[in-house]
Amino acid sequence: MFEKWNIPDDICDNYPIGLNSLDLFVGHSEQTKFLSGILTNKSVVLLEGEIGVGKTSLGNYIRHSKKGFFSPLLEIPCKPKWDNDTFMGIVLAAIVKEIMRSGTPHKKLRKHETIREINEKFSDLKLANLGITGAGFGISKGSGFSRTSFINQTILIDYLLKVGEIIGEQYRQPAPIIMQVNNLDTRYSFSEDDLTRLFNDIRDTLQIPNISWIICGDSGLGNFLKKNVPRVGQIINTIVTVEPLSFEEIITAFRLRIKKAGMKGEFPVEPGLLKYIYDISNGSFREILNIIYQLLVRYYNEPLVTTITGEHARFFFYEAGRRHVETLKKSKIQYPVFEAVVNHPGINQKNLSKLVGKQQSNVSRVTKELEAMGFIIVKKEGRVNYYYPDIKYRIGFSNINGNKMNDPVV
Ligand SMILES: Nc1ncnc2c1ncn2[C@@H]1O[C@H](COP(=O)(O)OP(=O)(O)OP(=O)(O)O)[C@@H](O)[C@H]1O
Ligand SMILES: [Mg+2]
Repeated sequence: MFEKWNIPDDICDNYPIGLNSLDLFVGHSEQTKFLSGILTNKSVVLLEGEIGVGKTSLGNYIRHSKKGFFSPLLEIPCKPKWDNDTFMGIVLAAIVKEIMRSGTPHKKLRKHETIREINEKFSDLKLANLGITGAGFGISKGSGFSRTSFINQTILIDYLLKVGEIIGEQYRQPAPIIMQVNNLDTRYSFSEDDLTRLFNDIRDTLQIPNISWIICGDSGLGNFLKKNVPRVGQIINTIVTVEPLSFEEIITAFRLRIKKAGMKGEFPVEPGLLKYIYDISNGSFREILNIIYQLLVRYYNEPLVTTITGEHARFFFYEAGRRHVETLKKSKIQYPVFEAVVNHPGINQKNLSKLVGKQQSNVSRVTKELEAMGFIIVKKEGRVNYYYPDIKYRIGFSNINGNKMNDPVV
């Protein structure tokens, strides 16, 4: 598709870095070294950061680069209604699934009776019932009925202990197994109550010998746990904030993707535009990939467009959003609020209500509506709400350069 630029079609894939893409990883060198050292001994490590910055990738990179340790291919994306039995069942399933995976470096472990027994039990349960997917990038389970509850809890613990011992004998490390759990955040996946309950429930499992844990969550999870689940807060020995990659590192990451595909293209996006997208995405690499992909798809078939510029981007997102914005104009208050947020990204509620001349309660209702419709994003800091336009509307509709809204620069 992107032949004219000589870049691969999957240049904007947004899967986390995993075992097969370790060579695409850039940056975080100090944290990598530090955490890799910590994980040599039994530890519980928390990686926290904003969405899409690369928490899962960093965890995957560290555990898969560590020689002489056992870590399953897949991370475990926790779900709100899990209990500890489900959690243990899924951890066991992930471990035996790795041992049975074709191409695993841990084939030798198949000779153990216990491993075969666990594998049988779990295939008996039909992994599909546990929601364990074969898709290659995740293990998940719905919030409903749990098949693991058929297995006695002591048996689950016993299996986990035995698996730890067996893998310990094979690899002779203080904590030979490194598990990674994902999705632990209060903003998107969990309510605060669910998160508190799950962490209280799985605490003992996190303490089982021979297994280290990398827990990925949103920024603030460490503080949340200290405050609300101190018994878990106390067993986390390291909290690391995953900062966004720098602009230069993002460019390097794109170049590595082109090189890995054996292609020689130059990245077809004007540096100024890329920098603008980087700045307004708060360093969320996933958001950047998503925006760039939409632009590449829009312009690959336009023979005259060799480099995608700010004007192209603005035009595209203006066209894509125009009809939606028109519908806002039917409401007397939605449109002015949207316009104010687009032109004042990061505005707080008080100033917003001043700017549009409406009461705060009205503005509060409308911002919720606009958020639900995907026009704006609300960020909470302490008790104050800050409002940002969705990045696509920001590119297409903001009056940067003094251009009025509705007036694309083309
Ligand atoms: N250090 C890195 N080097 C190269 N690419 C990276 C790096 N970190 C992240 N990426 C890429 O950025 C995208 C997002 O990364 P990832 O899924 O790890 O973020 P995340 O913080 O775990 O996101 P979420 O908050 O949704 O869980 C992926 O496509 C990944 O390949
Ligand atoms: Mg993640």
